[in-house]
Formats: sequence, structure tokens, C-alpha cells
Amino acid sequence: MSMSNNKKSIDWYNDNAIFYTDHVRSPKESIYHSYYEKPAMYNALPNLKGKKVLSLGCGSGEDSHYLKNMGALESIGIDASKEMIKIASASYPECDFIYMDMEKLEFKDESFDFIYSSLAIHYLEYWNNVLSEVYRTLKSDKYFLFSCEHPVYSSMDCIEDKKTKMRELSYTREKKTEEYTIIGDYLKHGKRIEKDWPVTTWHKSIGEISSEIKKSGFLMSEIIEPEPMIEMKKLSERTFSHLSKIPGFIIFKLYKAE
Ligand SMILES: C[S@@+](CC[C@H](N)C(=O)[O-])C[C@H]1O[C@@H](n2cnc3c(N)ncnc32)[C@H](O)[C@@H]1O
Repeated sequence: MSMSNNKKSIDWYNDNAIFYTDHVRSPKESIYHSYYEKPAMYNALPNLKGKKVLSLGCGSGEDSHYLKNMGALESIGIDASKEMIKIASASYPECDFIYMDMEKLEFKDESFDFIYSSLAIHYLEYWNNVLSEVYRTLKSDKYFLFSCEHPVYSSMDCIEDKKTKMRELSYTREKKTEEYTIIGDYLKHGKRIEKDWPVTTWHKSIGEISSEIKKSGFLMSEIIEPEPMIEMKKLSERTFSHLSKIPGFIIFKLYKAE
């Protein structure tokens, strides 16, 4: 496989594959997954009985396993991290896991009945390549479902409380004598300022996302803005109250017309 456009993030996943796997497999740790993003993604799945499905940026393979259990005949996961692929293959032998870049899919045209991607596409600065590859490898009259950071969330800046050292994403206005500085920039395309996950994701506005989708040929079927499940409240009141007001992730369901 030639080098991916986002090698640095992939290096991080290679170096931290065991840490990441332990994290996602512990619902109490990965509350953004277990009590927020996954339930909304799973709720938006089409009927998978007897279907051939692909997951992009499959990580340690939990979603491919879930898609298989939902009746998929064949569930394939691809990831550009060799270490993640090793873990996924050893964990879920009923699925196929392949080391591959989501921008260069090594599958024939119209190979899949459904394509899925959870929290992986935002590692790419531009989505034109991945969207055209997904469009090419998906059959007509089928869906591509993916989640990513919500632009409202990724456009906020990270503020550190000087006394407590607590870090918070915020749109807070900082008062400097007579002037206010607005922290956060929704309209500016750029690298997201990280809070506590040391990988590079890219912020882009809904307008930019919508124009990339339009160029790909896909039609927008649905936009989902999940709400945190009540179970999250017991584990982190703070995250629950944040996500109940300001979305962290967004889900797009795209349709390839006949
Ligand atoms: C946050 S993890 C999500 C993993 C899994 N989908 C889940 O929900 O647990 C992001 C994954 O995307 C993968 N990834 C990043 N860039 C990629 C690329 N260009 N092609 C394929 N996979 C990529 C990373 O290696 C990592 O495993």
C-alpha cells in the first residue's frame, strides 16, 4: 500500500493499538462511543440480511462484528493501521480484515450493498477521494453511513483553566480590557485543536461538507445529531451535560441513486 495522506494519525494508531482496543472495549471508558455514537449509528443501519458490507477505518473490528451479527453475509473491515488490522483479525474470525487506505479502495466497482465508517473520515483533510471511492464500490440504490466530529464541536478552541489546569472546548469570549476575542472559528477550514486525543483531525463547515458530498454524486438522505443516552450521566455528568447541549459527533447517511 502506498503512503496514506494522513500518515501521522495512522502512526499513532499503530503505536497505540492495544490502548485504543482496550478503550473501545470498555464502555465505561469509551462513553462517547458506547452511550452516544454507536447507538445512533446502529439505529440508522439498513436491513443487512444476506448483504455484503464494508467498514472503513474499522479499528479493532467491533463494528464489523456487529454488522455481521445483524445478518450480513460478508462483513469486511479495512484500516490503514497494520496493528489495528492484526487485532481485528485475531478477535473476529467471522469477518475479513484487510490493510488498506480508505482513499484507495482495492475493490471492483459496485462490490458492496452497504458501506459504513465510524469516526475515521475526519482524519482526512479532503473527502473527495474517499467519497468517490465509496461511490464507485457501492451498488446503486444503496447507502453510505458515516460519522465524524460535529463541525460545531471541532470549531471550538481548547481553553485551559490556569488554576485547575482543566481543559475545556469552548466558544467562550475572552475579555481583554475593552475588546473581546472570540475563541473558535467555525468558518475556517483547518486542523482541529486537540483536547486529549493526540491525533490530527480536520475541521470543515457543514457548507464545505455539503459541497464535497454534492461533487461525489451522492444524495443526502439524512443528517443525524445524536443525543447522549441517560446511562452516560452516571459515568460523567459533565460530558452528559455538554453533549446534551453541544453536539460532539454528526452522522451522515448518503444515498447512491439508481
Ligand atoms: C477513532 S478510530 C475508529 C475505529 C472504529 N471505526 C471504531 O469506531 O472503533 C479511527 C480509525 O481510522 C483509521 N484510519 C485513519 N486514516 C485512515 C485511512 N486513510 N484509511 C483507512 N483507515 C484509516 C485509523 O487507523 C483508526 O483505526
